[in-house]
Amino acid sequence: MSLLPLKQLMEECMNCTKCPLHNVRNNVVFGEGNLRSKIMFIGEGPGRDEDIQGRPFVGKAGQLLNKMIEAIDLKREDVYIANIVKCRPPNNRVPLQNEVDACLPYLRNQVAIIAPKIIVCLGATAAKAIIDKNFKITVMRGKWIERKGVKIIATYHPAALLRDPEKKYPAWEDFKSIKNELEKV
Ligand code: URA
Ligand code: SF4
Repeated sequence: MSLLPLKQLMEECMNCTKCPLHNVRNNVVFGEGNLRSKIMFIGEGPGRDEDIQGRPFVGKAGQLLNKMIEAIDLKREDVYIANIVKCRPPNNRVPLQNEVDACLPYLRNQVAIIAPKIIVCLGATAAKAIIDKNFKITVMRGKWIERKGVKIIATYHPAALLRDPEKKYPAWEDFKSIKNELEKV
């Protein structure tokens, strides 16, 4: 973990114009949390509240994420939280491939600097960008893969749990598996 490169990366990201989303953002949402965290949570992109505040997962989905983090005996401040794209897509649409491609180097650098042992992809957009472009969240969630010594899992996005409470049980199973894995690393 090194602070200086992260600060430089953040400054670069804050001024980024590499994709058209820069035209419609209020704030870049770089990500935040414990730089020594063993676990990183990765969402899709900022929503309305995040765009206003410049912080990840601070709206309704974020409040649910906080509860889920606490349910596995972590605190939000213990973990690092980031997104696939750092600027809000209009009306919260799914980020386009060119936007994901333009933004992903920031996340790759964040991962390299923080060097987590566990990465949790929240929802299909994160899972497709990080694990496999053909990822099917309903089928492939909850299954661990390992890459360069990093354990990676995808679960439902908290916003999906708010829309469809039936997904809460499988998501809770995934979080129990995450807690179990965390105890090993
Ligand atoms: N949804 C996301 O994917 N990321 C956020 O930061 C907030 C909501
Ligand atoms: Fe740059 Fe990413 Fe924002 Fe696009 S979404 S302008 S690549 S920081």
